[in-house]
Amino acid sequence: MSETPPLEIAPVVRSFLDLSDAGGNAIAAMIDDAQDRKTARRGWPKGRPDADQPLAGHMLAMVFGKSSTRTRVSFDIAMRQLGGRALILDSGTTQLGRGESVADTARVLSRMADAIMVRTDDHAKIEEMAHYAHVPVINGLTDRSHPCQIVADLLTMIEHRKALPGLEVAWFGDGNNVLHSILEAAALMKFNVRVATPAGFEPDAHFVQMARQAGCTITLTDDAAAAASKADVLVTDTWVSMGQTQAKEKLAAMEPFRVDQALMARAKSDAIFLHCLPAHVGDEVRAEVFEGPQSVVFDEAENRIHAQKSILLWCFGKLG
Ligand code: CP
Ligand code: NVA
Repeated sequence: MSETPPLEIAPVVRSFLDLSDAGGNAIAAMIDDAQDRKTARRGWPKGRPDADQPLAGHMLAMVFGKSSTRTRVSFDIAMRQLGGRALILDSGTTQLGRGESVADTARVLSRMADAIMVRTDDHAKIEEMAHYAHVPVINGLTDRSHPCQIVADLLTMIEHRKALPGLEVAWFGDGNNVLHSILEAAALMKFNVRVATPAGFEPDAHFVQMARQAGCTITLTDDAAAAASKADVLVTDTWVSMGQTQAKEKLAAMEPFRVDQALMARAKSDAIFLHCLPAHVGDEVRAEVFEGPQSVVFDEAENRIHAQKSILLWCFGKLG
């Protein structure tokens, strides 16, 4: 067994492990910048760099310990649009997969790349990566949280509903990593969340507490219809996250929390439906909603690129 190496002295770097690392003002700045950049390049080919190329010469290394389509492609295209480049590593085919330590990997990648994005299981691994890295580390999803997704979700909410403070957001299904970041966003951006989950699948109390302490109304209920009533935004996600076992009991418990048209009808008439994707249509959401007029899931997916750009700019000290 190798000993844990001493912490090297690192310059100040902005890592984005959770939304609170940036805070409400920086997140608002990210959303503004994302909207401006999105508007400025409307109609352009996706690979054409933004006019200012603010990250020219910069390299992002991405380490994936779990599958990804959106996070992987959006960070890669985001770096290209900002004038930089990205490198995609599958952790299973790196020496990490053979037991090289997170600490050593962090220090090596810090010498070779200007920022590191990590998708992994245990949140402690990304904290360790940030501890030993000399460059910004970005959370591309852990079992605990998915902050990059939520910057895109906030951008999508603002595009469709205009203002976050006081918004009534309703979550249905599993109390998972995506919900944790929504609750953290609520605390920072001052909106309310109704959380409809079966007993035993509630979110981590830490995130509920954080939002309540910030003055948000957070309702925990097992009544999906009540949670949907007059909501502005309805959100769900897979009932079985990556790395979880597909337990029959869990799937059975989730049945009353499927988002269908009857649930949508209880919300405000201009409510929107969000899903981070990938979706399991027929499980957590019915096709009538997923394909329906209130669904903005593909705007949300596209917004991953615009959001990643702002997150990267913040990490490099060029924003907020
Ligand atoms: N929403 C999201 O993170 O998608 P991927 O798993 O495809 O990256
Ligand atoms: N909760 C899901 C999100 C996927 C983007 C998971 O962790 O698998």
